[in-house]
Amino acid sequence: MHSSPSGHRPLPRRLILGGAAALTAGAALAATAPRPTRTTAEAPPPPGPASAATPQLLLTERQSPHTLVLAYDLPEAVTGHSGAAALRALCAAWTRSLDGNPRAALALGPGALHRLPLNAPALAELPPFPGDRLDPARSGADVLIQLCGAEGPERLAEAAAALDRRAAGLLTPRWRQAGALPATAPGETPRNLFGFKDGTANPAPAERDRIWLTEGPYAGGCHLVYRRIAMDTAGFAALPTERQEEVFGRRKEDGSPLGGSTEQDEPDLYAKYPDGAYVVPATSHVRQASPRQDGGARMLRLGYGYQDGPGDEGLVFCAYLRDPEHFVRVQRRLAEKDALSAFTEHRASAVGWVPPAGPDGVPVF
Ligand code: HEM
Repeated sequence: MHSSPSGHRPLPRRLILGGAAALTAGAALAATAPRPTRTTAEAPPPPGPASAATPQLLLTERQSPHTLVLAYDLPEAVTGHSGAAALRALCAAWTRSLDGNPRAALALGPGALHRLPLNAPALAELPPFPGDRLDPARSGADVLIQLCGAEGPERLAEAAAALDRRAAGLLTPRWRQAGALPATAPGETPRNLFGFKDGTANPAPAERDRIWLTEGPYAGGCHLVYRRIAMDTAGFAALPTERQEEVFGRRKEDGSPLGGSTEQDEPDLYAKYPDGAYVVPATSHVRQASPRQDGGARMLRLGYGYQDGPGDEGLVFCAYLRDPEHFVRVQRRLAEKDALSAFTEHRASAVGWVPPAGPDGVPVF
């Protein structure tokens, strides 16, 4: 995608620097970044993002098959304008050293936004939801990065190690989570660990301006909600296919909504059988998650399967959306009414502000 319908400037295809030059420039930047210190009296924050800011590149592209989500902590001693400057310099160095391969989306957690004078909207932690069983060691972050690439887990681990080295002295790694999609023919929707096509209703690249802010000082920015969701694959597989389809509200074989005929058909949430029951069942996942229940608000789900050992498998859920309250509303409905909830358990959680990027691809905050 070269421009969004909202009239954004063309998106940068590549970042400015390449290869060794990027590494050297990044190292120099990190080395010259102001030392973070504790300050008391704060001056007003610097002016907001440049009008040329656009969404971070990862959000405008098709999903690639591997992901690695990295979470970092910012030590409490890092505060004030010097702390903010150090974080900005690190993110610029990170962006240049990655050079678009793998793609990355950077997000800033509520703790970082609270402690540092950054150009970003206020953000609170997500509330608890019924049924959550969150592991604090795998949850929360001051800085989150979702890396996505085509080349497999080794390449992502290598990129993560380079980010860690560059962050040393400012951020400490907190947790990380890898995920992958099954091999999928080009143009087809990948299947999740329950065997259903997952991602069908995601906004296409041309409609993505519904997931980031298009006006105001934070235009081009959005939020990331991360959840590590365990899936009871054996329990779900034991259901007859017809029952599985009622749980999702879509057909297993071709992903079409119940009552529809092709995968891209919009689920008809009003259609009923003569006995009055909904064709797309009342407790089905697509009904409860439908944007129609949220005034049309959309989220981009860049989800991946994780398999971390016997009995520990599920979904690396990463959703990009304008307002985290939208996730909160959907998740409250899912926890209460979604038939899928009997087969899933949320085990970790994090939220962050995804700043827009400047013309050179560097996040602006
Ligand atoms: C393990 C947990 C989950 C699984 C296996 C799962 C799977 C699916 C599948 C198969 C679909 C239908 C195909 C598609 O449009 O992508 C779907 C749709 C959707 N899911 Fe999930 N999902 C999970 C959790 C969640 C959560 C936690 C949320 C948000 C709180 C969510 C939000 C959505 C949305 C917004 C849609 C599109 C609804 C529509 O526009 O028709 N899902 N999901």
